[in-house]
Amino acid sequence: MRMYDIIKKKRDGGELTTEEIEFFVDGYTKGEIPDYQASAMTMAVFFQGMTPRETTDLTLAMAKSGDMLDLSVLGDKTVDKHSTGGVGDKVTLIVAPIAAALGCTVAKMSGRGLGHTGGTVDKLESIPGFKVELPPEQFFGQVKDIGISVIGQSANLTPADKKLYGLRDVTATVESLPLIASSIISKKLAGGSRHIVLDVTCGSGAFMKTPEAAEELAKAMVEIGNMAGRKMTAVITNMDTPLGINIGNILEVKEAVEVLKGAGPEDLKYVCVEIASLMYASCFDCSADDARPLVLDAISSGNAFKKLCEMVEAQGGDVRYIEDTSLFEESKYKYEVKSPKDGYIISMNAETVGIASVVLGAGRETLEDSIDYKAGISLLKKTGDKVFAGDTIAVLYTDDDSKITEASDMILGALEFSQDKQKEETLIYKVIK
Ligand code: URA
Repeated sequence: MRMYDIIKKKRDGGELTTEEIEFFVDGYTKGEIPDYQASAMTMAVFFQGMTPRETTDLTLAMAKSGDMLDLSVLGDKTVDKHSTGGVGDKVTLIVAPIAAALGCTVAKMSGRGLGHTGGTVDKLESIPGFKVELPPEQFFGQVKDIGISVIGQSANLTPADKKLYGLRDVTATVESLPLIASSIISKKLAGGSRHIVLDVTCGSGAFMKTPEAAEELAKAMVEIGNMAGRKMTAVITNMDTPLGINIGNILEVKEAVEVLKGAGPEDLKYVCVEIASLMYASCFDCSADDARPLVLDAISSGNAFKKLCEMVEAQGGDVRYIEDTSLFEESKYKYEVKSPKDGYIISMNAETVGIASVVLGAGRETLEDSIDYKAGISLLKKTGDKVFAGDTIAVLYTDDDSKITEASDMILGALEFSQDKQKEETLIYKVIK
């Protein structure tokens, strides 16, 4: 078999065989196929697409390119949750302890933030002492003891995706449905959970800009996961505006704690209750409507918050910071962004706000960059709110005062005002199983 012939076949719109797809994935992972041929191949897929069978084969070949976790010793209620990316998206920090408090088994590997979107592993690492790298025996032991562990992705998880994603990022081939679906689902299959709930975001802060595009991606991912024997659920959520109030690592941990203590912003609470209900419903084979009262009770009883504390303690974190979040260190500079005019905020571009938080130090442009856990943004006003000239719209937190003007201008540039109130935004568009 020759890579040249496989590229040519896909370039001309042909359907690749399972063997051809495996040849490409194996060869590229081992370094036998060079970047220039893999680039041509991803570009051919970008233009010609893939059939559902080809996408499934690509996903399975990528999943098998490295370690495949076997979580079967942990029972049949292992559940994973994945977001396709967002701004202010601290949902995992909230839903994972809720699900574990209700008897689901959360043995989860999460990613770091890149570009304008944040990552759960960075947020957890902002808790002093918290370890995101655990030896397998400790990871399994902790999940057996307390039902939950969230760690970083192991070095040898889906090496094919690591190489391919890096290549796609620099060859303008990220926005391809079969390539996104196989990238995400290969990691979830290798992660080993039996139940997988996907939060497919759409809007200005997401990969998929419209609910229709998000639905197409969600359907493809659900189909591949189901074919691979996992129980899949996808929920399409709105990421036109950042989720909740806080963006930035410590700031998001603080907000997650608020929600688990029964407070917190309504949009975040609503999305978390729905996603946690879907996680429980999948594991215990009931409807989300039946699961919802249990989820609300896990919050109001304090059981979900207790579960977060147990996880923090088990992974070496200083639980005093979770019990009293005022102990977290604050940024040197705090700056209030004021509204330039009266009116209703009718849109707030989530991607721009996410980039502003990176400018302040909360995120990284490349995986090697270091981040300032304290940095970020609190949005005191959001889409739908009425403001008057001079009202504080956002508070910026940073240790680098030279970044304040740029970030403040970006936030103001992310806003659209109107004299008329607009209808409320939909937060959850659809659930797909
Ligand atoms: N997230 C991933 O993990 N892969 C993609 O291709 C896009 C988003």
